[in-house]
Amino acid sequence: MSTSRRAVIASAAAAGLTAAAAGAAHASGASAGRANAQPPRSERFGVLADGTEVQRWILSNGGTRLKVLSYGGIVQSLELPDREGTYTNVSLGFDQLSSYVKDSPYFGALIGRYGNRIANGRFTLDGTEYQLPVNDGPNSLHGGDQGFDKRVWEVTPFTSGDDVGLTLRYSSPDGEMGYPGTLDTKVVYTLTRQGDFRIDYEATTDAPTVVNLTSHIYFNLAGEGNGSISDHWLRIAASNYTPVNPTLIPTGRITKVAGSPFDFREGKSVGRDIRIAHAQLLRGQGFDHNFVLDKGITAQPEHVATLFEPESGRRMEVATTEPGLQFYSGNFLDGTLVGSRGRVYRQGDALCLETQHFPDSPNQPGFPTTVLRPGETYRSSTVHTFSTR
Ligand code: BGC
Repeated sequence: MSTSRRAVIASAAAAGLTAAAAGAAHASGASAGRANAQPPRSERFGVLADGTEVQRWILSNGGTRLKVLSYGGIVQSLELPDREGTYTNVSLGFDQLSSYVKDSPYFGALIGRYGNRIANGRFTLDGTEYQLPVNDGPNSLHGGDQGFDKRVWEVTPFTSGDDVGLTLRYSSPDGEMGYPGTLDTKVVYTLTRQGDFRIDYEATTDAPTVVNLTSHIYFNLAGEGNGSISDHWLRIAASNYTPVNPTLIPTGRITKVAGSPFDFREGKSVGRDIRIAHAQLLRGQGFDHNFVLDKGITAQPEHVATLFEPESGRRMEVATTEPGLQFYSGNFLDGTLVGSRGRVYRQGDALCLETQHFPDSPNQPGFPTTVLRPGETYRSSTVHTFSTR
């Protein structure tokens, strides 16, 4: 496609993707011919060193096709049609279990017990200090080196009305990866008849602890292995973000995005401002920041972000109950990993939009709390809605 045609499509799409249009968009999107549910079926994907079998679950509904591993609850493939109806996998991943075990930067995985970083792997709760194993410079990242992304989940398929899905369960023992309390975790992946991909998280504990669960899908709406996400158009409904220190721990400040490369409120291409020599972009080697969502914590998922890829016409909307969104522009992909279709992944070949509480909240009294106590239930929900333009 010529650059000018691409620009026309991008700007037309951007114009149609204002906040006002966002809610109505799905109705006018590729909803014709949806449904066509395929109840989950499983096949053997591989065997871990300890002999545990890992299953791959395959399901589809409403034009969205999903493959999920019992290992890490990993979304191994998320296939969506483009505006011509041609399907491609829009999530980075591998075709072999061994690559997920050895090399994966959390491709497609469930993240727990704590999404993103805890400074120096340390926090104090009710007067007791806990030391977590550190796995990212001086910090603990994504629940530690044997986090929920490396656990085998018990998976139960379901069909409920027009929905199909999987319930994933994992009970994390007291003290695992340094965290107090037995954490009973349930994650439900649902594909609706409209093809929405919904994730509902729940957890309970038998002792006070901290928890922050998320999903680490790397999206490239042009298809994994098809190059940079620089031309993806992104809108984030956040007037503030949390700047970070040199090891990517929030400084504790809540800073306005206005007038900075972090202003995605009107929508713009990911690449437009990424080369501005802003101190925060230098720290993250791109965008790797928590956006403070204007809607705050909500009982039901509310729209927070839109992602659009002009050439394919694929578009994704994200709605969540969470107060934060980690926008990570795939900065640390460095050309050393070979993806599921045999293509090499390089910097900026995908992006993550991780709905979450803020990084390092256990050490940041000004941030919404991530403490979970016995008798309480942690709940979080995120919905990805897909269409074409
Ligand atoms: C973090 C990045 C990290 C990436 C992969 C993201 O959620 O914010 O700093 O490199 O995950 O591990």
